[in-house]
Amino acid sequence: MNAVKPIPLMTDIPQRILESLHSVVMLFDRELRLRYINPAGEMLFEASARHLLDSPIAELIQVDDNLITALQEVIDTAHPFTKHEQKLMLLAQREITVDMVVSTLQEAHGQTELLVEMNPINRLLQITRDENLVNQQKTTRELLRGLAHEVKNPLGGLRGAAQLLEKELPNETLKEYTNVIIREADRLQKLVNQILGPNRMPKVKATNILEMVERVRSLILAEKHHGITIKRDYDPSIPDVEIDPDQLIQSVLNIVRNACQAMNDDGVITLRTRILRNQTIGQETHRLAARIDVIDNGPGIPEKIKENIFFPMITGRAEGSGLGLSIAQSLIQQHGGLIECESEPGKTVFSIILPITRRTDA
Ligand SMILES: Nc1ncnc2c1ncn2[C@@H]1O[C@H](COP(=O)(O)OP(=O)(O)O)[C@@H](O)[C@H]1O
Ligand SMILES: [Mg+2]
Repeated sequence: MNAVKPIPLMTDIPQRILESLHSVVMLFDRELRLRYINPAGEMLFEASARHLLDSPIAELIQVDDNLITALQEVIDTAHPFTKHEQKLMLLAQREITVDMVVSTLQEAHGQTELLVEMNPINRLLQITRDENLVNQQKTTRELLRGLAHEVKNPLGGLRGAAQLLEKELPNETLKEYTNVIIREADRLQKLVNQILGPNRMPKVKATNILEMVERVRSLILAEKHHGITIKRDYDPSIPDVEIDPDQLIQSVLNIVRNACQAMNDDGVITLRTRILRNQTIGQETHRLAARIDVIDNGPGIPEKIKENIFFPMITGRAEGSGLGLSIAQSLIQQHGGLIECESEPGKTVFSIILPITRRTDA
């Protein structure tokens, strides 16, 4: 007799999926009492489902009237709502930021229930995904660029005039003064050029992330930061990204150089690449994205400037210009990506996230 193959049990698959999701899934009844929470939710609230079930929503998170009205409206109209970067205060006095989708679920016996899906965004991510802040950074950059433009032209004239004057000077010792003008004009010119950044449009092409990161690695090795060890942790399966390779290299290089400087050329830098799914950048969600992490074990970003490092002219170093990260951020934003950062003493991670648009999608 043939052995009968056991039929796989299908019924527990939805349950198992719910339980292994990284997203928080919660179900509320019409009175906004918790009916279900998955393990990701238990982790977020740091309590077991048994403890949480039946609690009114107001016992889980601090809700304001607007949120309650919005939730009631979903129940009444069955129109789902999506909210990016919603700030929620958990009752343990912990503020979190989440992307959330609220929709309704029709129960078998006709009851409408509220389905809440949430993806927490961690605190530091907030700094760079906060749209207000991104816009502020952009405005500051534009302001500074405008100023740099204004300074650039007369600077050339100034330098030229000082050179002419130098030739006319009857007395050699007076040249000291024209030299000061020329030297300072050159210094300003350099700064102005840095602020203005690359003055060409990005030349976008299908680019292999791994090759670019390797290029950065060899450039850094050539700079001979003697005490620095560079480790590699690459995901070889990342599809090509549509980006200007030179600008990507420039951005990663700025970040890696900062790490070398922060560690006084003594420490470990890890270059890591990963593929991400369903990433929200600004208003858009991308099915696939590439992430490049630059991790160092240095002292971490000074607390005083932590929130502002992506603004131009913000520096923690005496000889710094404060332009490296601002330029990197602007280059990456031009490609629809973002840079974010997480830092504590002993571990700083800068991540570049770039959407992968497959040609067929475009
Ligand atoms: N990996 C890092 N570890 C510690 N601090 C960092 C790191 N990267 C950047 N910083 C801090 O951020 C500041 C801004 O960096 P950046 O914009 O490149 O300007 P600059 O390097 O000219 O100071 C640095 O001066 C430094 O204080
Ligand atoms: Mg720098």
